Amino acid sequence: MSLTDDQYRRFADLTFEDLRRMAQDESLSPNEKVGFPESYRAGKEKQIFDGIVANLPRLNETRRVVLDIGPGCSQVPHLMIELCRRQAHTLLLVDSQEMLAHLPDLDFVKKFPAYFPQCEELIRDYSSKVDVLITYSVLHGVFAEGNVWDFLDGSLELLAEGGEMLIGDVPNVSKRRRFFSSTRGIKFHQQFTRTDTLPEIAFNRLERHQIDDSVIMAVLTRARNQGFDAYVLPQRPGLPFENRREDILIRRP
Ligand SMILES: C[S@@+](CC[C@H](N)C(=O)[O-])C[C@H]1O[C@@H](n2cnc3c(N)ncnc32)[C@H](O)[C@@H]1O
Repeated sequence: MSLTDDQYRRFADLTFEDLRRMAQDESLSPNEKVGFPESYRAGKEKQIFDGIVANLPRLNETRRVVLDIGPGCSQVPHLMIELCRRQAHTLLLVDSQEMLAHLPDLDFVKKFPAYFPQCEELIRDYSSKVDVLITYSVLHGVFAEGNVWDFLDGSLELLAEGGEMLIGDVPNVSKRRRFFSSTRGIKFHQQFTRTDTLPEIAFNRLERHQIDDSVIMAVLTRARNQGFDAYVLPQRPGLPFENRREDILIRRP
């Protein structure tokens, strides 16, 4: 099922503080607490998780250090916790205290209640020690309210040699424009709206808080210039936003 643009914007505009408040709202489901309407996430968690694991082969090794920045509290971090238990990994989790409170306290899980990278203890203790870093559906929030470069550099600082990092589920307004300018995109829009109207596509417009190709390319370039390999990956077909989101994979050689 697809989302209306209004729902999309509501999701895109949530701040860390909004999400902290929502984490405590008992009227919301776990998916809604992390800002996803049920229609977006319900029944998709395993597919999302399998996509993450497919891009991060080191998760299949044993006794590694895994860091999830912004795990939230949906089914996805629970699947990650189970994988880490199975593979005897240490799992580090950074999110608001309110979000982390929904995840179990286990001996192989270390929680860091903080807005990354404002967590000195983690950066000090795990510099160059993290084998796998995941941050899924988080970057657009940091782009709108934080400092993407500080977030990126702080993450790269933690990666061990051979370490890999997935910046997943990044909405890209340029990709969205390309899709809705295509025959397939126009058909998608017309089926969704049950009209014969054309999707609204605007070029040369200021798009505050929206990640576009320039930001994606700059993230790749900055990582590469600092000694890391970096790639853009398409999302798996079947994911709700695969026509307008993509993933970034970074590896420390
Ligand atoms: C949209 S949710 C995604 C949750 C989870 N990764 C998933 O895909 O199911 C974004 C999560 O990232 C957290 N978050 C956002 N910016 C963060 C930051 N700079 N440091 C730590 N957590 C952050 C939010 O509190 C929220 O739990």
